[in-house]
Amino acid sequence: MNTNRSKGHIDVLLGAQWGDEGKGKVTDNYAYGYDLVARYQGGPNAGHTLIVDGKTLVLHVIPSGVMVDKPSLLGEGMVIDLLMFFEEIKTVLTYKSNATSLIKISRGVGLILPVHKLLDHVNEYLAGVGKIGSTLRGIGPAYEDQTGRRGPKYQDTFRHDAYERFSKLQDRHTPIIKDAIDGCQDAEVKNFLVQKLDSLDSDLRTHLQVASKISDIIEDVDCGSYVESILAKGRNVLAEGAQGFFLDHAYGTYPYVTSSITSALGAPLGLGVSWTHMRKVVGVFKAYCTRVGKGPFPTEYFPGLDGHYDPSHGLGYLIQKRGGEVGSTTGRPRQCGALDLPALRYAVKTSGMSALVMTKIDVFNGFDEIELCVGYKNMELDIFRRMGEAKPIVEKFRWGCEITSKMKTEDDLPSRLRTLIQKIEDYVGVPIIMISVGPNRDDVISLDESSRRKCLTARTSGNGEHASSLFTASSGG
Ligand code: IMP
Repeated sequence: MNTNRSKGHIDVLLGAQWGDEGKGKVTDNYAYGYDLVARYQGGPNAGHTLIVDGKTLVLHVIPSGVMVDKPSLLGEGMVIDLLMFFEEIKTVLTYKSNATSLIKISRGVGLILPVHKLLDHVNEYLAGVGKIGSTLRGIGPAYEDQTGRRGPKYQDTFRHDAYERFSKLQDRHTPIIKDAIDGCQDAEVKNFLVQKLDSLDSDLRTHLQVASKISDIIEDVDCGSYVESILAKGRNVLAEGAQGFFLDHAYGTYPYVTSSITSALGAPLGLGVSWTHMRKVVGVFKAYCTRVGKGPFPTEYFPGLDGHYDPSHGLGYLIQKRGGEVGSTTGRPRQCGALDLPALRYAVKTSGMSALVMTKIDVFNGFDEIELCVGYKNMELDIFRRMGEAKPIVEKFRWGCEITSKMKTEDDLPSRLRTLIQKIEDYVGVPIIMISVGPNRDDVISLDESSRRKCLTARTSGNGEHASSLFTASSGG
């Protein structure tokens, strides 16, 4: 729906599971059809991996659109660490010499100060066994200060009294850090916290020096008016989500979530424009599930191991190894599990996803059978907070396919994969419009959306009807 006068639209691409679905590569592919790619939430907790000319590039805050020469905006809903941002700009410049002319930063982006990172460590340490498993990038504490109406924005770095203001905020937080240090029994952790506390002031000064270097090379914009001005010209915006639906602060597996709105409504919120500009929401999911950090994960193989599998852990081990399932931000092994269809359907329904992209199906090469969760024994997933109690019903699905990057069109797909695609579509009620068949940016196959939608509607009445009514008015970006 777009009731605004402007002709342009915002389409949203977001993760439909627990993050790490391969969104970077999908954005990289879709970005060609848009005039601006914008991140709307999160910060350097994300890691969008792209393989460009055989080299692996991980973007943490800069939208992937920059790699295909699209203006790329760090939206108002984000929080960033200026040092990491500056390093990322330097890395991207080694791939794209014009990157600084493409990257735009919203003046209202929240800042992650050195104290926020330190607080993240302290909070996780104090939480003991109840810890969230955060990326320790300062995300939660930075958002807490934003909600508390005292968190600094990027534009505050331009003030003559920026150092005094930020320093005062750091001082406000130091008593809790000192208390944690006093009570800390672990010598290594204590030493780490002491060192970081001692360097808070000099780290803050470095941040401010870097802020001024960034402002020399990157254009800062007023997020809402900038995005509006693009839409007003009839141009389209791709909003690139970070993390995944089940890490959403409101809809996810709270409290084991991140501190931002990762679902589709985060897009207009984080870009400072009306929701009425939104047209289409596309969810990206892996052919299996992974999670890093703590929290409910119904189909997890070998819960309790935190993803530390060895060859005796069967599918968990094979998927992790073949899929390279190691955190791109933290290097932690990702816990692995079967594709959870009820969870996927819940994400589709709640986030208004009208189509899906499936990634990493090639990870199953050489498997005789794969597993799919087709329901829960003890509940319908209607209340997401109960996900931790869900007992999955897992079905075996005969496989034996080899998926290769030589496959270029829908016609090249083996019949088992077509059957799997249909099965997933029938379950979740929306079509799969792209599949990724290998790690490189070109290893994707687009599936014809309108025919898939028609077939889906013909096959299913309830779900299919819902999907088509959401979508017939819109066309792809
Ligand atoms: P935080 O966002 O660093 O506070 O971490 C909160 C939870 O979200 C932890 O379980 C993290 O592992 C998880 N998380 C944060 N960012 C990502 C991501 O980009 N991919 C997957 N998990 C993430």
